[in-house]
Amino acid sequence: MLNVQDYLREKCALIDSRLERLLPSAEESPTSVHQAMRYSVFAGGKRLRPILTLAACELVGEMKEDFLDVACALEMIHTYSLIHDDLPCMDDDDFRRGKPSLHKAFTVGIAVLAGDALHALAFEILAAKAPLALVVEVAQAIGSRGMIGGQVLDLESEGKELTPHQVEYIHQHKTAFLIRTAVRAGAICGGAEEKQLAALTLYGERVGLAFQIIDDILDVRGSYEDLGKEVGADQAREKATYPKVFGLEDSREMAEKLIQEAKDSLVPFGPDTHVLSKIADFVVQRMG
Ligand code: IPE
Ligand code: IPE
Ligand code: MG
Ligand code: MG
Ligand code: MG
Repeated sequence: MLNVQDYLREKCALIDSRLERLLPSAEESPTSVHQAMRYSVFAGGKRLRPILTLAACELVGEMKEDFLDVACALEMIHTYSLIHDDLPCMDDDDFRRGKPSLHKAFTVGIAVLAGDALHALAFEILAAKAPLALVVEVAQAIGSRGMIGGQVLDLESEGKELTPHQVEYIHQHKTAFLIRTAVRAGAICGGAEEKQLAALTLYGERVGLAFQIIDDILDVRGSYEDLGKEVGADQAREKATYPKVFGLEDSREMAEKLIQEAKDSLVPFGPDTHVLSKIADFVVQRMG
């Protein structure tokens, strides 16, 4: 029986050692921005997105060296999004991954630039290592019709009453799109057949939406010690969250249902899906 914690630890170590090689050294000029990029990338983090890429790839095909770079590029994009998300002009959060946020440890200017540089480095890697169609797909998933679009709505919805449809739109765009793309990236790199890709796309969508709902729940119910970021921040900023729109109990049920749907989408693969299935369980278990 696979122990998912061991699997996650093993993949984290693999991803971290590749990120170590992909990021410019802290001694390379301009040192401030390179130090800042490293500070945020190596502050911790669950590495969920690159792990999903590797797990999806292993499910449908053979894992190759280049695909690890693709997975790391997605983690760089995610880290850039967190750096910018924490800025005073965005969520204004002082802690991330158990340490002061990048703009606190360095400056706002360096935090903006380190985020930009991680974004650029990610596409440099993707352009070199991923099929062109996947590079296009990643760009679409994180642009103004994807993650950034979600972040815009998130920002503009502070203090407003949202409909269920609107909050779902925000969560799908700001978080689920990149998670779905991480799963699809692994499937595409692994050479998935059309039906396999469709099933994994559904899995990524459901896990992605559940992940943001659970992040909202943890902002109410979690602790700094467990999350490495300050809790209660959403309520303080009157953010559009699932607990705010649906209440805690319904949000919890919705996340559980989505995780079940994600696991159901793996059924066509037969019994070999245990890693992705357990990762889905891991996501929902974070709720406690
Ligand atoms: C936090 O993502 C931001 C969201 C999209 C909810 P994670 O919870 O995956 O953050 P790290 O990478 O583990 O720090
Ligand atoms: C972040 O959502 C989504 C992106 C960075 C794209 P949140 O604002 O809820 O993430 P946390 O709670 O700060 O980690
Ligand atoms: Mg935010
Ligand atoms: Mg935030
Ligand atoms: Mg949050």
